[in-house]
Amino acid sequence: MTSRQRPTVLVLGTSGLGSGDEEAAVETAVALLRSEHLIDTSNNYSGGASERILGLGLAALAPEERIAAARRIITKVDRDPETGRFDADRVLRSVEESLGRLGVDTVPLLHLHDPYVVTVREALARGGAVSALVRLREEGVAATIGVAAGPVPLLQRYLDSELFDAVLCHNRYTLVDRSAASMFRDAHERGWQVFNAAPFGGDLLARGPRAGARYHYRPASEELVDWTAQAELVCTRHGVSLPAVALALSLREQTIDGTVVGVSSPARLDALLQLAATVVPDAVWDELDALGPAPSPIDDSGYGDDE
Ligand SMILES: NC(=O)c1ccc[n+]([C@@H]2O[C@H](COP(=O)([O-])OP(=O)(O)OC[C@H]3O[C@@H](n4cnc5c(N)ncnc54)[C@H](OP(=O)(O)O)[C@@H]3O)[C@@H](O)[C@H]2O)c1
Repeated sequence: MTSRQRPTVLVLGTSGLGSGDEEAAVETAVALLRSEHLIDTSNNYSGGASERILGLGLAALAPEERIAAARRIITKVDRDPETGRFDADRVLRSVEESLGRLGVDTVPLLHLHDPYVVTVREALARGGAVSALVRLREEGVAATIGVAAGPVPLLQRYLDSELFDAVLCHNRYTLVDRSAASMFRDAHERGWQVFNAAPFGGDLLARGPRAGARYHYRPASEELVDWTAQAELVCTRHGVSLPAVALALSLREQTIDGTVVGVSSPARLDALLQLAATVVPDAVWDELDALGPAPSPIDDSGYGDDE
């Protein structure tokens, strides 16, 4: 088993890119592409607009910048939006669509994205989605392949298949939920690349505890908002912000290679880089531990059994 010491990097998430004004979106794409960070997109983000806008951003760069930037775009294959089909044929079509929108021939990493409409058995079977990903890796279209989803028991089953090089899990390694910790350790020890997405829980840990706050794309409970208010007090007492600490939790974790954060504008990118540079005093971690576990809304217990 390996236990490499690898630097954890920021990965810029683009799930919302292309859902608003196109000119502003291309400007954001150019800023992300020039930042020299990895970029995370998917076939289905903003109905395909995320990849299309990244493609327009790439086209706006000078040739030498474009080649380097294109090597940093990670994408994902998705089920057919009309039929829900998610087999080998759909994977091949999905990647063809992605390469066309991005204007590239290869990607450094291609994830199987949110494989909820097929069972693990179906995905791993002959003619299943994973066989096409393996073929795309053999052909060099994808340098590496991964699986990206939420539920930890589901990801663990893909991990046990030993067929991938990377895993991405979201909302499950944050200040309020650490349920991905042991799966991340397992993946890290197998030498896989580990990506932790949504370190702000999509809202609560970026904008702070308040009425209407959301975690994991759903309204946060009063108990969770109260717990987060206590955590924010700890941060404030030590002169650091809640989002800076939320980000640092992921960036300091040795089993995580990349922390994937949603970035919606050049200003957000600047703010994110500032947050990432914050030095968090050790006492903050001790005091947060002393609060005890947060009342996380995530319950993945339904995903452990075989279909
Ligand atoms: N299954 C999967 O593969 C999967 C699932 C989830 C996420 N992901 C990836 O991970 C990325 C991150 O996930 P996420 O965007 O859902 O969650 P996130 O990174 O935890 O949170 C992003 C949210 O935080 C807000 N935010 C960020 N910085 C802020 C600041 N300085 N002040 C106020 N608000 C701030 C953003 O607001 P604005 O929108 O206003 O900027 C955005 O709504 C996605 O874009 C995607 O690439 C993958």
